[in-house]
Amino acid sequence: MTSPFRDNLLDGKVAFIAGGTSGINLGIAKRMAELGAKVAVVGRNPEKAANAAAEIGHDAIGISADVRDFGLIRGALEQTRNQFGPLNIVVSGAAGNFLAPVLGMSANAFKTVVDIDLLGTFNVFRACHDLLNVPGASLIAITAGQAVNPMQLQAHACAAKAGINQLVRVLALEWGGDVRVNGISPGPIEGTEGMARLAPDPATKAMHFERIAMKRWGFIDEIAEGAVFLCSDAAKYITGTILDIDGGSQLGDATQRKVERGLA
Ligand code: COA
Ligand code: NAP
Repeated sequence: MTSPFRDNLLDGKVAFIAGGTSGINLGIAKRMAELGAKVAVVGRNPEKAANAAAEIGHDAIGISADVRDFGLIRGALEQTRNQFGPLNIVVSGAAGNFLAPVLGMSANAFKTVVDIDLLGTFNVFRACHDLLNVPGASLIAITAGQAVNPMQLQAHACAAKAGINQLVRVLALEWGGDVRVNGISPGPIEGTEGMARLAPDPATKAMHFERIAMKRWGFIDEIAEGAVFLCSDAAKYITGTILDIDGGSQLGDATQRKVERGLA
């Protein structure tokens, strides 16, 4: 795709991307590195992290750490600061998901997703604050439409992502002078682990299409461009917002609910 951003937009910037070793977040990491940022990506699996760093190139580093462990995440952030300097951009995108009804979900299953998504985002943002290059640092949480629209078989992800949206807003209020804090809510994105889990068969995929105003799934580079925008000067007066990059998916859900109630 043709990008509106100039090639050296992120020269001299340092970006830390939790969950950046695959999928959407890896796409964000690649784009930021292409635009000049020094990038660190983090995931649990060390081999996957090393492969991701090699794929990104541009001196990127891959670090193995679990976002559920504050000490490990703090260590990964310090390693990045020591290697590249104070951080300008921090993305929290690690997530876990599976389809299960509440009655098919143990307390530990619910806790596992909440811990990766919500506690993980708290850990990444809480641990990075004194390592940021301020003023002007930009934090981005990767959330999802489940934060706003309830979805069956997704109680854990709905609760976790709703918590992330509120955490973004609270941090924007508390850190507003120095650090902008925003979220990105992607719609269904082609070729990702998330959609392989949420729409594993053609019928489910067709149902997702029906609810999207633009009648297509999105692409990883469309999310990456949004992330670049949010941490660029073009967004310097934007904080505490959740940017939906979803082809109007949530509008579709709202319309569907009206149809179900006989109001449309
Ligand atoms: N249905 C119901 N429960 C499930 C489940 C499913 N499909 N998959 C896992 N669980 C339960 C487990 O049984 C366990 O509960 P228990 O201890 O009561 O038996 C709990 O969830 C934790 O499972 P575990 O495999 O130990 O967790 P983990 O920390 O190793 O992995 C997951 C986390 C489960 C989220 C795993 O799918 C993962 O690593 N996902 C990352 C990739 C991903 O989900 N990408 C999409 C992002 S949108
Ligand atoms: P993905 O490819 O599965 O990426 C998940 C990343 O998080 C991987 O790098 C994974 O690496 C890491 N991770 C998982 N658990 C972790 C943990 N406990 N600690 C540290 N890292 C961990 O997922 P994706 O589908 O691209 O989704 C990326 C983000 O976009 C998620 O936040 C998701 O909720 C959101 N989203 C996705 C879609 C979609 O269409 N896919 C739609 C809306 C929102 P390891 O496995 O090695 O840990």
